[in-house]
Amino acid sequence: MESLRTLLYLGVCLSAGIINAADGEFVPSAENVRWVSLDFKTILTWTTTAPNYTYTVQYSEVDADHWSETPDCIQVSGLECDLSNYLVPFDRTYSAKILTETMDYEPEESPTYSPHFNPYRESNISAATFTVEALDENRVRVNISDPLTSIHQRGRQLSIRDVLSKDLNYKISYYKSGNTGKRDIMSDSSVTEVKDLDAGQSYCFMVAAYIPSRPKSTQQGAWSKQWCTEGMNIPQELSLGAWVGVVFILLTVLIIIITVTVLCCRCCQQRKTLHTAQSSAPI
Ligand SMILES: *[C@@H]1O[C@H](CO)[C@@H](O)[C@H](O)[C@H]1NC(C)=O
Ligand SMILES: *[C@@H]1O[C@H](CO)[C@@H](O)[C@H](O)[C@H]1NC(C)=O
Repeated sequence: MESLRTLLYLGVCLSAGIINAADGEFVPSAENVRWVSLDFKTILTWTTTAPNYTYTVQYSEVDADHWSETPDCIQVSGLECDLSNYLVPFDRTYSAKILTETMDYEPEESPTYSPHFNPYRESNISAATFTVEALDENRVRVNISDPLTSIHQRGRQLSIRDVLSKDLNYKISYYKSGNTGKRDIMSDSSVTEVKDLDAGQSYCFMVAAYIPSRPKSTQQGAWSKQWCTEGMNIPQELSLGAWVGVVFILLTVLIIIITVTVLCCRCCQQRKTLHTAQSSAPI
């Protein structure tokens, strides 16, 4: 009985193998399917063990049973698909599947499914740029430019503020130059004042987007570059030395220009006199 069953299994396996072989070569599925998303530019990437296949990507809201195709990712030979403009509304959870196709465009039986992805909650946020302007001795205005997304709506490129609106805050971190103690403040606006600074001191600032409504791991965007102010009194102290330097350099340049001009003119005049002398000579 036992051996009969084994034999039966063996037969089934063998015939399955033969059918597969008759069907043509083995079609490998896409592997390592990942989402890469920055400032709501969201790209699905995958790898393959064999080239020479094409891929079609379909996406769906999780729990909806309708799969949509993306016009840009039908029978493509590349290993990525930009879904930024399709995963709308942003605050939904999506899934995608990748169908591997042979050259005769027969879709492979088992597609590869992506992990779930919610652009609103999981897209990384890049470093913002900003300016710092002194308002008086103790206050500065920090003016942050919201990073731009790759999404266009009605001919306008959206910023992350357009997408996240009230959920977008910024963390502003600053410290007194030469001091290790850092202070963080939170701002719900892109333009904010930092108060109670010490007069005559130089401060350094950094900003990062901060989205409290997100899960902890994706709450904070990348830190910006540092921007340091000059202390209020320091530029005046330095300026005497700086001015002496500037005047000295200007004088040197002026002297060189005058010297060169004078030398050139002399040279030209000499040549002219020589020329006139020659042409007036009798033939
Ligand atoms: C966001 O950035 C982190 C750290 O660089 C990275 O590990 C993660 O894969 C990124 N997430 C997305 C969706 O791109
Ligand atoms: C902030 O900077 C932008 C340009 O980067 C400028 O248009 C805007 O007027 C500034 N806002 C304030 C309050 O200074």
